[in-house]
Amino acid sequence: MHLSRLALSLGQSATLKLNELANNLKAEGKPVVHLGGGEPEEKIPGGAFEESCKLLDGGFVRYTPVSGTAPLKKEIAAYTERHYGVKPGPKNIVVASGAKQAIYNFLISVVDPGDQVIFPAPYWVSYPEMVRLAYGTPVIVRPRAGELLVSAEDIESHLTSSTKAILLNSPNNPSGQVYPEGFIRELVEICEGRNIYLLMDDIYNRLVFDGLKAPSAYDFSKRPLNESVIVSINGVSKSFSMTGFRIGWSVANEALTQAMVKVQAQVSSCPSALSQAAAAGALREGDGFSDTLRAGLEKKRDVMVAELSKLKKVKLHKPQGTFYSFPDFSAYEQDSTKLSALLLEKALVVTVPGVEFGLEGHLRLSYCGSEQDIIEGVARIRKILD
Ligand SMILES: Cc1ncc(COP(=O)(O)O)c(C=O)c1O
Repeated sequence: MHLSRLALSLGQSATLKLNELANNLKAEGKPVVHLGGGEPEEKIPGGAFEESCKLLDGGFVRYTPVSGTAPLKKEIAAYTERHYGVKPGPKNIVVASGAKQAIYNFLISVVDPGDQVIFPAPYWVSYPEMVRLAYGTPVIVRPRAGELLVSAEDIESHLTSSTKAILLNSPNNPSGQVYPEGFIRELVEICEGRNIYLLMDDIYNRLVFDGLKAPSAYDFSKRPLNESVIVSINGVSKSFSMTGFRIGWSVANEALTQAMVKVQAQVSSCPSALSQAAAAGALREGDGFSDTLRAGLEKKRDVMVAELSKLKKVKLHKPQGTFYSFPDFSAYEQDSTKLSALLLEKALVVTVPGVEFGLEGHLRLSYCGSEQDIIEGVARIRKILD
């Protein structure tokens, strides 16, 4: 049977594959510890439950406007103003079926075949394939040995006349690191100076620890929103524990937003009405849910850091946000795929190989599960490696 060259060239999502594997092993009754996960274990906010029930009770669940319902856009505007000091209008927002679709809408709207899209490693596993899906060329900027962050100069040195966008995820999946203010300022200057889009994937923006805040690109912008090169991506998956609802959104200038609406209209018509009602309910409740979630994750981060420090040869940059840690295991094994497979086979612990995020020698260990799993999982790893 014929398959397109594009379909044949795409890699499988490593994290989704591992989730499936962990679930299969669990279903077989194996005592698997899953440190490869990417979603909080908390129940959804009450407001999300109530609003979706209300819609169901009415008995009408219809198509919505392509770019999202008015009540949800109103909540997104208030959220953006509260956390970024920028108030988008309805024509600046596209609600999508997850932040993932919002990023895809963006790439399809700005990338022509062969255009380059730059992002630093370690990167979210989907970026390279999503850029390829838009017939673009991913350009990866790697940090110096032993570091997890690149400098603005490193990024600038990779710019060409074909560069259309820079993607940045801060706090970062997988490293948990927050890019510093000076870096964000320089990046905004570079992008505004050259008219290159700067996509800020802020999906973990509310999950920053130790009283820190992830610096916002808008703070350094000299342009009004409708002339801005900054595209902000957010959603309810992580900060509101609503991964299954599939609601994310973009905030961007009106011209780009219009293009993204056209893309979405042809691909999915609109995000689920039920999920949009739920997301509006979650956002309407305010920041309490995310604050409690963050406090719990901060404690689990501390447990993960304490447990990892017991391993003799692991090097770790303490995560500043998200629910991931990205320790360097290269003193044990440089090949992260081999190491991850060994840990699954011998210790029944699921980890994600660093190579999937563009950095060999590391493993991604999540701490969004139970404290007990973190302690047990790392203890099993220690037993095998030390
Ligand atoms: C960095 C990053 N961006 C975007 C997403 C996609 O989130 P959503 O569930 O809203 O599609 C994820 C999910 O893992 C992520 O880690």
